[in-house]
Amino acid sequence: MFVRNCWYVAAWDHELLADTLLERTIIGESVLFYRRGDGSPVAIDNRCPHRHAPLSMGRKEGDAVRCLYHGLKYDSRGQCVEIPGQEAIPAKLCVRAYPVAERGRWIWVWMGDPLRADESLIPDAFSLKHREWRYRPGYLHYDADHRLICDNLLDFSHLSYVHEKTLGGSPNIAQARPVVTRTERGVHVTRDVRDTVPAPYHARLGGFSGKVNRRFAYDFLVPGVLLMHAHVKPHDTADEDMSGALQFHSCQALTPETAGTTHYFFMQAHRFRLDDATITESIYQSLCTAFAEDRRIIEAQQRLIDRSPPAPMQPIAADLALAQYRRIVEQMLAAERTDAGRPAIALHPVDHE
Ligand code: FES
Ligand SMILES: [Fe+2]
Repeated sequence: MFVRNCWYVAAWDHELLADTLLERTIIGESVLFYRRGDGSPVAIDNRCPHRHAPLSMGRKEGDAVRCLYHGLKYDSRGQCVEIPGQEAIPAKLCVRAYPVAERGRWIWVWMGDPLRADESLIPDAFSLKHREWRYRPGYLHYDADHRLICDNLLDFSHLSYVHEKTLGGSPNIAQARPVVTRTERGVHVTRDVRDTVPAPYHARLGGFSGKVNRRFAYDFLVPGVLLMHAHVKPHDTADEDMSGALQFHSCQALTPETAGTTHYFFMQAHRFRLDDATITESIYQSLCTAFAEDRRIIEAQQRLIDRSPPAPMQPIAADLALAQYRRIVEQMLAAERTDAGRPAIALHPVDHE
């Protein structure tokens, strides 16, 4: 159901303060996140193996966490290091430790075989931490299968209809055909929309009085990470002339919580008027309004699917990117099923320092 050998975004860095015990369910597994004394993040199974109480209801003690049911204590590799009233600690008394990394402002967790965790596979979400870009971080929780939200992000024709009065602005976006290419771990999508009316918030921010050209160019990577450059500029300027352009970079990550619910981490950074915090706030608010429009239709879609007999979805040309992406995911799932019989997985504890 879920690709395991990949990095999932688990949290924004500000959700994980020095003393936080953060529980987050990811691909159906309840994971406890916290920080060691040196600030480095830890991810371990949230379920105390003794009587299955949540460790997130426990207490941080130095780099360890103590279950506040019967007091068992676990170090940051998941190994039990103390049992009140008992000297001997069985070696198998441990919880699974997940490889975890902090990159940009996201906490990433590897849900698959720890021996295959490779930090070079973490997507380059550079604008999360870059002095030339500004943004306000966002999060949404969805009552929907993450695949429906991937579909949405892989086909921007919906901007013309779902976001007609917000991000969209005209039918031109749906009419523009995207160029879709396959990449190693996903797809790259470019959509040029020429001679179109600006979205209301672009008109406001850019002072555009006439028609504009818009470009969306993004990677969409397994397990659901979108990294997009976008710009809007007066339509009567040369393609390479970016002097009057509003430039954006967006990082968005879909992380399945369960089969039917999804975490959605997002931001849209701007590269103009960097010192005007009202611009940053206004872009964030516009995005929140638009993403509420997406959620409204996608959750309604999910509810209808749930209460209807199974039926195939009928493809159209605009589905090219999402169909390719779904194929890539299917191939990765098939490869992991093939691998599943091999004895490569070391569940715990593995040192990733
Ligand atoms: S359930 Fe955690 S110590 Fe008993
Ligand atoms: Fe949308």
